[in-house]
Amino acid sequence: MAYLSPALNVMIAAARKAGRPLIRDFGELENLQVSMKGPADFVTSADKRTEGILIEELTKARPGYGFLGEEGGVIEGKDKTHRFIIDPIDGTTNFMHGIPQFAISIALEREGHLVSALVFNPVTDDLFTAEKGHGAFHNNKRLRVAARKELGPSVIATGVPFMGKEGHARALAEMGAVMNVTAGIRRMGAASLDLAFVAAGRFDGFWEHGLQPWDIAAGILLVKEAGGVITDLNGGEQMMTNGQVLCANENLHPQLLKLLKSTKA
Ligand code: IPD
Ligand code: CA
Ligand code: CA
Repeated sequence: MAYLSPALNVMIAAARKAGRPLIRDFGELENLQVSMKGPADFVTSADKRTEGILIEELTKARPGYGFLGEEGGVIEGKDKTHRFIIDPIDGTTNFMHGIPQFAISIALEREGHLVSALVFNPVTDDLFTAEKGHGAFHNNKRLRVAARKELGPSVIATGVPFMGKEGHARALAEMGAVMNVTAGIRRMGAASLDLAFVAAGRFDGFWEHGLQPWDIAAGILLVKEAGGVITDLNGGEQMMTNGQVLCANENLHPQLLKLLKSTKA
């Protein structure tokens, strides 16, 4: 059975409540896909509404805690020791295109340390949770990162910049290096789920640049609690400030770090 702290129970209840209208929206999007205006405005309002529901529910249960949300930014709480970090829809482009690979991501920080994490895909009903010191779970199943020791048979996920974002040449150089020595690369489009999939041993590793704290806060704890190694691309701990992430098991992590550092773009 999954270990559920009182805080995780509160986070799950909030995510399930905010997830219900998202399931309806996801159905609606099929119709919007074909309209001229496209679904962009609809999705923007879904993002805002979801974050609103999450903040309302979490505040009811934990009055005084602060927030860092993708849509609303920083909300200072009276309790300076606790903060929720929220991405209401991680994988918006997938959501907008009717691709069921997106998630609500919520992490709880206590005195600057990640202590509870949730990544929830409402459409597939996949719930990933972790509590510091108590492991990571997928629904009720305990998670462990994959055990492969060599890159050859490994599947590695990444995220790449899109139109107008910096880092295209670097992404191509890095993918060139990784695709040369692995069984394959995946670009699924939701960093929180990429990290959850590493925790679940589905991916052997994942790296990306240019991420925001709300993309990765919950996923970092999931990977750590599943026994994985997660750092920035210098091998340091600044993921939440420099937006870089590299994770894998303890055997593959140093191999990937060396490989990515060796690429020049
Ligand atoms: C994005 C996703 C994507 C990653 C982008 C993020 P959003 O978040 O996590 O996988 O490559 O960098 O911005 O915008 O869908 O919440
Ligand atoms: Ca995101
Ligand atoms: Ca988002």
